[in-house]
Amino acid sequence: MTANGKFISLEGGEGAGKSTLVSRLAHKLKGLGLGVVTSREPGGSAGAEAIRDLLLSGAEDRWDARSEVLLFAAARADHVDKIIRPALEAGHWVLSDRFADSSLAYQGGAGGLGIEAVRSINAFAVDGRFPDRTLVLMLDEGSERAKVRDAGDTDRIGARSSDYHHKVELAFRLIAAEEPERVRLIDASGAPAEVTQRLLDAITDLLP
Ligand code: TYD
Repeated sequence: MTANGKFISLEGGEGAGKSTLVSRLAHKLKGLGLGVVTSREPGGSAGAEAIRDLLLSGAEDRWDARSEVLLFAAARADHVDKIIRPALEAGHWVLSDRFADSSLAYQGGAGGLGIEAVRSINAFAVDGRFPDRTLVLMLDEGSERAKVRDAGDTDRIGARSSDYHHKVELAFRLIAAEEPERVRLIDASGAPAEVTQRLLDAITDLLP
């Protein structure tokens, strides 16, 4: 019988270099002989990628706060069902670029719905399958880097005010304080190789 794999999510504000770090961490874990599936949110499965377009494009007021959190949750339910759970059951490790804690921080903390309300919506959506470890990349000038990267072509949510993004960061700190076993804050400054090593150090206890 194959042992189940572990589920790791990478989180953080805009521009902390998450996608590069997901690839680098996946590469390290494969080097240790593990089967690794990488994914991202919003998206990750065909249905969730279709919902991603609804969420990230269009006018700022396209969705109200409750519709927005439920669309993220619907996408996530499909992602868990079609991609994450089957991969874990096949013994693979799953690395996701963002997952439920993004909804807790963005829609719950910054969007005003409250972290607790969004946590229960998500517990339902993921059928209790929260990550085994969540690594939150912390980078002060993250939003600056995202602005440069997106060069004025940011999405519906990335384009929100600096006050909104400041609240996102505070919410991630709060979530990490509430769930210190699962959620770890990681310093995202420095070279990608250094940050990757910090990520690896924060999951060594989960390795077989
Ligand atoms: P994405 O293109 O993945 O950007 P990033 O490189 O910043 O990860 O865009 C995702 C955007 O959606 C980002 O601004 C964060 C936001 N988001 C939420 O507000 N709630 C969520 O649950 C998720 C998964 C993402």
